[in-house]
Amino acid sequence: MIVLGIETSCDETGIALYDTGRGLLAHALHSQIAMHENFGGVVPELASRDHIQRVLPLTEQVLASAGLGPGDIDAIAYTAGPGLVGALLVGAATAAALATALEIPAIGVHHLEGHLLSPLLSSDPPEFPFVALLVSGGHTQLLEVAGVGHYRLLGETLDDAAGEAFDKSAKLLELGYPGGPAIAALAARGRPGRYSLPRPMLQSGNLDFSFSGLKTAVMTAARAGFADDAARADLAWEAQEAITEVLAAKAVAALTSCGVSRLVVAGGVSANRRLRERLAAAQERDGFALHFPEFELCTDNGAMIALVGALRLAGGAAPPSRDRSFEVRPRWPFDELAAIDPAAAP
Ligand code: KG4
Ligand code: ZN
Repeated sequence: MIVLGIETSCDETGIALYDTGRGLLAHALHSQIAMHENFGGVVPELASRDHIQRVLPLTEQVLASAGLGPGDIDAIAYTAGPGLVGALLVGAATAAALATALEIPAIGVHHLEGHLLSPLLSSDPPEFPFVALLVSGGHTQLLEVAGVGHYRLLGETLDDAAGEAFDKSAKLLELGYPGGPAIAALAARGRPGRYSLPRPMLQSGNLDFSFSGLKTAVMTAARAGFADDAARADLAWEAQEAITEVLAAKAVAALTSCGVSRLVVAGGVSANRRLRERLAAAQERDGFALHFPEFELCTDNGAMIALVGALRLAGGAAPPSRDRSFEVRPRWPFDELAAIDPAAAP
């Protein structure tokens, strides 16, 4: 079965073709970063308009690069939420229109389930069960994953997400958007010792996180001014240390508390090399299996949406074929995600 994946939840138009037999056939991404950069963050109306312009040409491009035509598509998966409502509607409406014309099913997918399962597309896919550290711009969660559609929340952030902590720290350091890669690049020139930021909730004894105090500490340090450029790099280094130390420690603690020996890290922040380094060191010490998405599939993309669509359709989630209504859910709590019947799941 060949599934077309359409991701338009935020500032990236992602299109992909996933074949349940052969894997990922082709994918393409258009990032709006350059467009939103001048505003210091995503402007929702501009995002929606740009998705409208990109979604069909990218679909044609992906079909051409896979050597396929529209008639070869068996189903369409689109991000139904969470995300920006206008941006989501572009993907949902496009999916519904294409599915009507092609007389195939269209299925709405939860964006975070896409991130969560994106490591299944890697060359070294994890087996179930695993513990997942899901770290994106809007979410920071630890989950126990027994199978597709079987998730148990172990802990989550009480305030800001890890990606948000990177983004807000970057703003305070007057770096560009998105902040994660910008902090990582500046931190590469930083040195330890000059700053000392808190490691929030490191000793809390549970698997929850909190990053808003860290942002305040970065703000206080930044407001005191920088002696030179090296000082800014030192603060970026320390901010990255603080965020990644807490993430890595809690992820390892989650493995212990579940008695699971496989860790999956996904979402935009999983691209962070310092986080990967810390977890690799913990893996060396403790001997658990460690899985990440491919670098290019860490941030938003259509491939993870196509994958989840395929898995959910295989699990019996096909909507009635004549029902062409579509729904987006800008706020869609992960725990409201429908479970999949284990008997039907692949
Ligand atoms: O998963 P994602 O692409 O979008 C959401 O679903 O939110 O995550 C975007 C987040 C942003 O906060 C961005 O700053 C962060 O991921 N990010 C990184 C890196 N690349 C992206 N954070 C730290 N280091 C990176 N290399
Ligand atoms: Zn995302």
